[in-house]
Amino acid sequence: MEKFRASERLVDQLSEEKLTSYRAWLQYEQIENQDYVSKIKPFVQHVAVDLACDEIIDNALIEWQTGLSSMFQINASIIKDGSVDKGLVLKLDQDYQEDAYVLRASDDQLILTGGSSRAILYGVFHILRLIQRRALLAGLSIKETPKNKIRMINHWDDMNGSVERGYAGKSFFFDDYQFIKDRQRVYDYARLLSSVGINALTINNVNVHRIETELVTDTFLSDVKQTSDIFNQYGITMYLSINYAAPVELGVLTTADPLDEDVIAFWGKTAKHVYDVVPNLGGFLVKADSENRPGPFTYGRDHAQGANMLGKAVEPYGGKVIWRCFVYNNKQDWRDRKTDRARAAYDHFKPLDGEFNDNVILQIKNGPMDFQVREPVSPLIGELENTNQFLEFQIAQEYLGQQRHLVYLIPQWKEVLEFDTYAKGENTKVKDIVSGEVFDNKIAGIVAVTNVGIDYNWTGHTIAQLNFYGYGRLIWNPDLTSEEIALEWIKQTFGHDPKTIETIMKMVMPSWEAYENYTSPLGIGWMVNVSHHYGPNIDGYEYDMWGTYHFADRNGIGVDRTIATGTGYTGQYHAENRDLYESIETCPDELLLFFHHVPYTHVLKSGKTVIQHIYDTHHKGVEQVEEMIANWDSLADKVDERRHQDVKERLSHQLWSAKEWRDTINSYFYRKSGIADEQNRKIY
Ligand code: GCU
Repeated sequence: MEKFRASERLVDQLSEEKLTSYRAWLQYEQIENQDYVSKIKPFVQHVAVDLACDEIIDNALIEWQTGLSSMFQINASIIKDGSVDKGLVLKLDQDYQEDAYVLRASDDQLILTGGSSRAILYGVFHILRLIQRRALLAGLSIKETPKNKIRMINHWDDMNGSVERGYAGKSFFFDDYQFIKDRQRVYDYARLLSSVGINALTINNVNVHRIETELVTDTFLSDVKQTSDIFNQYGITMYLSINYAAPVELGVLTTADPLDEDVIAFWGKTAKHVYDVVPNLGGFLVKADSENRPGPFTYGRDHAQGANMLGKAVEPYGGKVIWRCFVYNNKQDWRDRKTDRARAAYDHFKPLDGEFNDNVILQIKNGPMDFQVREPVSPLIGELENTNQFLEFQIAQEYLGQQRHLVYLIPQWKEVLEFDTYAKGENTKVKDIVSGEVFDNKIAGIVAVTNVGIDYNWTGHTIAQLNFYGYGRLIWNPDLTSEEIALEWIKQTFGHDPKTIETIMKMVMPSWEAYENYTSPLGIGWMVNVSHHYGPNIDGYEYDMWGTYHFADRNGIGVDRTIATGTGYTGQYHAENRDLYESIETCPDELLLFFHHVPYTHVLKSGKTVIQHIYDTHHKGVEQVEEMIANWDSLADKVDERRHQDVKERLSHQLWSAKEWRDTINSYFYRKSGIADEQNRKIY
């Protein structure tokens, strides 16, 4: 097995200038404050290893030494014979939950006790994070248990090297229909992932084309194994997205019917072979019967039949099948106002609750649509009492500015996690359902579509690193606030200058609201260009056959999803939320047009009419971007030139784009409604 020291890998390919961006939040800047250094040094001179080493522990020790040599210029000695009782002591305690650890410090000794090697790795990253944030270690007493057992990333990487909805360059796994042989990036990525507690990932797109269908065959299995081994060294379990119709695509059978004996045998044999070669594989992720992907519907079977057939195939090897609930009819006819895509996940999967195998997990997008700037929480969450489930977020900002716009996503995700479903009475929050606590699920967790690519700063927009970092931190501990997460990240990424910290906080905290202000209003969603989904096009979304999903006409706008007169979608929620959304009086302003069709003159709770709200927010959003730019400009001498320039360029594009949105939306609704802006601002 090839082994690198993290610090050596980093310098291999990039200029010093770009390396700063590449290091992301693991900057390990030299610490100048001697008072702080003297307080920390007693804890870091030695590390006493009171446990059996494996490759994960080795990586923890490498990380420790890398961090310390960079921050303190000391070479921490590693002592394995129990002769030292000062400094950092590493111990295992089998009674702890697998990923849990405890940090306890006296005046000169810091004991890290973990439930597993992986927990030790997380604990080491935790201490390094504390030091990077200049926290004191003396007297420390912390117990960390992650809220979610599975903390996963999905890549939408294709083997031709492109990344579906990827905004940070090409794939670093694949190019030209092959695995990339130089795996330096993969190591460095595994390290970044584990630094924020991620313990599972898929490496290939949920849309599995012909070539990726072969990932489960000998054509690629040795590459799969090598990649999986790298992730295992950092405590991360790898999964593969598979093609439901593989037996047909590979030319073995003429059917993929889940009840067909030959299909069952095909998957049994395939799973056996895959696990012979890659015994640590986590399992399969499947997108079926969605956006032209094949699935059990083709054969008149339901999704439980489809998923369970695969579940049984991987069961003997401890494998899991993750089955996506993003299933809907691609085309909607505007004349039929009762068919509602928002209903689809619930309508398909709620009736199947309890029918899935123990090793099958349903993966549910956070909203009923598709990662829009504003959506209600998917009503399916809380409705599956006897089925394992994962919540799915998207870190890649497909509909949120595609990593060209600065949008901090944690505030949005926190709203989802804090949402009270009332599934088991008041205070049945999403965060407690998806962690498996409410329904006592064996397998539970959160997954997100990643935002990284081969760009030297990983995420295209340097500040989009915050969404990657924040995702890991939030799903480890959903009780962290958005402010806490942003502060942690800023200090580790940009250092400790108070003005820098304050200024970046002022930029990131309102950025989701700013984006919402200048784009699609009041929960209506979409309004983007066909297929690439970037920039304003009010009638443009491709899966809406007639371009009228928002039902905007000269009288009003919005989708009636009520039980009384609309699609009945509100009926998918528990009574408290159903009533909240059903009534125009109580429906929150920000979701009004998601649930109701109203005249432009409808008065919002804010006291403004809908049309005036649209005008005002679109102007405000642009002003907010102007403020972001002024703030960033003020940091010109505080941030290194490369990162300053990178962010500056993106912000100036963001301003251009925000103005385009403002002008497109405001002029469209002026033309539709015929109502002028009371502020008499110019309409383009
Ligand atoms: C969105 C996205 C697609 C993706 C799909 C999915 O619709 O635009 O590119 O394949 O989500 O989640 O499967």
